[in-house]
Parts: sequence; C-alpha cells; structure tokens
Amino acid sequence: MNGLKQRIDALRTQLIEHNYRYYILDNPQIGDAEYDRQLRELVSLEQELGEPVPADSPTQTVGAPVSSTFAARVHGEPLLSLANAFEDDEVQAFVRRVCEAIGAASPRFIIEPKVDGLAVNLRYEQGQLSIAATRGDGTTGEDVTDNIRTISDIPWQLNTAGLPVPDVLEVRGEVYMSKQAFAALNERQDAEGASPFANPRNAAAGSLRQLDARVTARRGLCFFAYGAGLGGRELAASQSQLLARLADFGFAVQQTAMADGVDELLAHYHMLQQQRPELPYEIDGVVYKLDDFALQSRLGAVARSPRWAIAHKFPAEEVQTTVRDIIWQVGRTGVITPVADMQPVAVGGVMVSRATLHNIDELRRKQVYAGARVIVRRAGDVIPEVVGAVDVDPDACMPVIPEVCPACQASVFRIEGEVAIRCSGGLSCPAQLTERLCHFVSRGAMDIEGMGDKLIARLVDEGLLASIADVYELDYSALGGWQGMGEKKIANLQAAVAESKNRTLARFLHALGIRHVGTATATGLASHFGELDAVMGADEEALLSVPDVGPEVAASIRSFFAEAHNRDVIHRLLAAGVQPAAVKLAASNHPLAGKTVVLTGSFASIQRRLAQEQLRALGVKPAGSVSKNTDVLIAGEKAGSKLSKARELGVEIADEVQLIAWLNWQ
Ligand code: IVH
Repeated sequence: MNGLKQRIDALRTQLIEHNYRYYILDNPQIGDAEYDRQLRELVSLEQELGEPVPADSPTQTVGAPVSSTFAARVHGEPLLSLANAFEDDEVQAFVRRVCEAIGAASPRFIIEPKVDGLAVNLRYEQGQLSIAATRGDGTTGEDVTDNIRTISDIPWQLNTAGLPVPDVLEVRGEVYMSKQAFAALNERQDAEGASPFANPRNAAAGSLRQLDARVTARRGLCFFAYGAGLGGRELAASQSQLLARLADFGFAVQQTAMADGVDELLAHYHMLQQQRPELPYEIDGVVYKLDDFALQSRLGAVARSPRWAIAHKFPAEEVQTTVRDIIWQVGRTGVITPVADMQPVAVGGVMVSRATLHNIDELRRKQVYAGARVIVRRAGDVIPEVVGAVDVDPDACMPVIPEVCPACQASVFRIEGEVAIRCSGGLSCPAQLTERLCHFVSRGAMDIEGMGDKLIARLVDEGLLASIADVYELDYSALGGWQGMGEKKIANLQAAVAESKNRTLARFLHALGIRHVGTATATGLASHFGELDAVMGADEEALLSVPDVGPEVAASIRSFFAEAHNRDVIHRLLAAGVQPAAVKLAASNHPLAGKTVVLTGSFASIQRRLAQEQLRALGVKPAGSVSKNTDVLIAGEKAGSKLSKARELGVEIADEVQLIAWLNWQ
C-alpha cells in the first residue's frame, strides 16, 4: 500500500512539473504519449487506492497555474480539457457511454480536426473584444489581450449583422502557427543563434506569451474558433449551429463533418489522417462532439473533461534509421547520458539526428548500438525518441560504459540506487559549466535572448565565462570580430543581459540549477519565502512546510546554500545588480490581509491549493484547520466537519463567489 501511495505521489509531482513545463514554459520535456501514459497510470492507481482524490491531483485539473508575468484573469466559465482515445475500441466505448446516458441509439456527432496550438478564451462585451486570456489552469488564465489583437482571424468587434448577441460572450478556440510560418520562424531563430522551437504548438505558445505584442505580430499567428463559454447557449442549440454563428461573426472556423455512429466517426478519422500531411497546419487528431447542446448538458462533465466529447489522437509517426554512434553527453549536474547519433531522418515534419537514451538501463533494454537499425518517433511531435532496435545483430558490439568523463577525463561514479552515472569533475568540467550556463540563461530561467548554446560554448572555450556570475561581468569588447557577432548583436546581447537582472525570484532559484529544484519547486519556494535571503537561510523544518518539498529536496537545497562557492556566486550575482524580484507577500490594504483563513470543500472555478497560494500572495495566512484563531472559513462544495466547527465557534463563513471576489480584489 505504501509503495502504491509513493508511486501516486511521484506521478503527481512529475505531472505537475510536466504541466508547468508545457503550459507555462512552452518547453515540454516529454512527449504527449508519455504524458498520457503517466496520467493514465495515475488515474488507475488512484482508483486502485480507493481513497478520495484530492482536488489538486493532475487527474482533476487542467493545465498549470499561471505565471506571474501577465495579469491573471478568471474565466467566466471554466475551460475544460478533452479525454483522449488512441484505439478504435476506446471510441466505441465512448459512443456506447453516450448512447446509454441519453437513451438514444444513434445520436449525431460533429467531427472537428484537433488543431495543435493553445486554447484561448475571448471575452466579448456588447460585441466588442474586451479580454483575451490563455487557458491557464482552466479557471484562471493570463491576460494576452494585446497580443491576441494582432491575430487577423479574430474580430475586434463581432459582425452581428444587426442580430442580438449576448451581453457577454466567451468565444473559445485555438491559436496556432501554420507549418510555413513555423519553418520561417525557426530559420530566423537559427540565423540569430537562438534555439529553435520544437514544434508549431510551442512556437505559437511562445509567440503569444510575449510581453511585447509587436513580436507576436511578426510571428503570423492564426486562430480557429471551436466553442463558447458564457453566452454560448443563448447563441445556438447545437455545436454545428454555434460554429455557423461564429463564422458569421467573422471568426475562422474549420471544416467539420457530421456522423451518426462509430463507423462513420472512424472512417472520417482515417480520411483526415490521410489528409494530414497536406494540411497547412498541424493537427494531432480529431475531436468528436455530441452535436446537440441539450444532450450535452444531460451528460455533463467529469473533473477535467466533458463526457460528451473525446479527442481521438493520431499515433506518433514512426520511421527507421541507422545509429551512427552512441555519444556520452555530460549534463549540468554531471550526469552522463547516452545519446544516439543517427543518420538524419524526417519524422513528424522535422529532421532528427539525435535522441537521448536517458540512461544505461534504457540503452540496454532498447539494445541500441553503433550500426543498429532503430525505430524513431516524435511522441506528440515533441522530443524524438528511439523506440527500439530492429533485427538486433547478436554479434554486434554493445556500447561500453565510460569510466572517465568524456569532457574532462575525471573519473565517473554511480550513486547507489540510481541508474545515472556521473562525472566527478564538478565545475572544473567544461561540459558541466557549459550546460549549467545554458540552463541559467534559458527561457524558463533568466531568459537571456541572444545567448544561445553555441555562443556559450565559445565563451567557455575562450575563457570568458568560467562561472554563471561571469554572465553579468562579460567583457563585450572581446566579442568584436567574432563570426555572427556584429555591433548590433553585441549591443542587443548586452541589453538582454541587463534586462534579465530583474527576473522573478522563482526564475532565479530555478536558474541556479539546484538539484531537484525544477520550476514548480522554485515557484513554491518563492511564493512561500518571498525573498532570496529567506530561502537561503531556511532550515529543514521551514523548507518542509513548502508544498511539494520533501526531505530529499530540502536536503538538496540546504546543501546547495551551505557550499561556500555557491554562496559566493550568488553574492557576485547580486553585486553585479541581479535583483530577484521579491514576491509581494503582504498587500496590506486587502480585506483579508493578515487574517487567518481556512479553505474547505471543493470549488468549481479554482483548485483549492491554487486559491491558497494566491491568497498567501495577497498577505493572507491560510491555515489547515479551524480553531478560535480562524478569522474566516471559505466553504466550497461538500464542506464537512470544518464548516460545522466554524459555525460552532462563530467564525465568519464565506462562499466561492466571495472567494473569487477576494482573489480579484484590486
Ligand atoms: S473542444 C470542452 N475542439 O485540444 C471541450 N478542443 O485536449 C474543450 N483543441 O484544450 C475543447 N482543437 O486546446 C476542442 N476542435 C477542437 C479542438 C480543441 C484543438 C485543443 C484545445 C483543448 C485541447 C484538449
């Protein structure tokens, strides 16, 4: 039982981190297929455990919390996600469920291509676009109105042709980048020495979440409308009618088809799969939706997805190629990873020649060696993956595990219980230094545009960067005359470095590359402690009170800050003017500031844990149990003993509507 709980915890932590990387950083580390596998495993383990599933489990939530760069906007109605089907029998089961629930033999379905971009919610008031927000966690998204206004598929004003429209109408759809615009963007990225986007979806997300809307405008984003939130039901009685109205309003909508049963759904799926390569934009499957709104309402939704719709995903494209060599790559923490260097091959629309094999166990399991014929796929069209070797030659030479680091020749060691092998060279290993620097300046960290991997490698080679602190003490005059480093480039780089000095504390902590501190943990630390000194000085007990920080993570944080050379680097960074923006912990004029508040039950429009985090940021003291010291109890659905206790003690009781008002209080 304990093992089961541990695995559930591990999966929840991983999935939260993946959500964050996918939705906030636009930089996923695993493909859709692997994500879905982990999510399915979690769903089944939660069922096996048979205990109530917490509202903040990734099986119950959509997306990830919003980042702090854009203003948060609460959607009028939550944005749901879709359950996935991969096999025909899963589609059959879906149709059967729908038929049983509504007691009809063959209800009408509408089939829509599933565009691979990112969902946005467009709020129209009296027909005028007022707020555009990303999906965020489904309840609260990021305000990207200025950026959305640059997309010509989105009308600023609805073309109502004199017909009445709801006072408030939320139009939902997908912002995406065409294959052509994607290729052109990556060419520009390459020419500028910036890292390319992995796929059009990441490129679209990255382009929409620009602080400068002029950058978005240059990226040529497009939009398809596929649904509505508030006001939608006043507009139409079915999905097909809704799409027709949205098209009349001036939105781009996709070509759809109607179907009466599983056979027709599947036939259309196969047809679209054939057409997929010719489409000017990426689709990753099709969506089947029950057409009639009244029937949809009867089916309702479970946790994160409606029961009246399902996404039928296309399988990841698989191709074969030959492994030229196995390369041992040294990461920023010294982990040495086997990487397959392959004969370049096109898969999922992108040329692939490298794929990580993660660790020695996987290398052995997949039987990959120099000369092996392997199957490669881009799962979810993100990261290339070697599925395995075909026709393994029994006499082939299996790769030899290195005894010394390929970058610095220091000895290699293996921590007990871990599969990874590591270099013992620390920062004296140029590979670790380079990787650490690449991580430090990367998009999710200090985000220094123009300081790409190639430039960093050269700066390390030339001895201009020997520590992350050197980033802010660079001798720019030494770069004059370097290939690709014109005067303007150098000036831009200098400006980007200067601009990065005020990144958030969360980004700064993440950038330091502390073991086990990914973006989610860094965000948790920043919002819990508020400022750098507090994190640096935190003892184990204080660290353990941060959500998601367990003993191993706490130990890693403590040992990082205990190292004199790490503290030294931080002091140099601060002395150079880096000022991790402290999180505002107390909004002294907020009605709840300084008050002790308990949240109980579940809330329809926000996860409880997220609400707690947001309240904490407003200066509220969230507590776990009701006592005479509790100032306010905010009760959601199914509130139980805490509510009765609060009543007994005469504690002020508030509901979800009040909670949302407090969260939006300005
Ligand atoms: S409907 C309640 N229709 O897929 C239904 N979603 O995996 C909500 N997507 O968040 C979505 N094309 O970003 C719908 N024709 C389509 C879609 C579509 C792409 C995306 C959307 C959604 C995700 C769900």
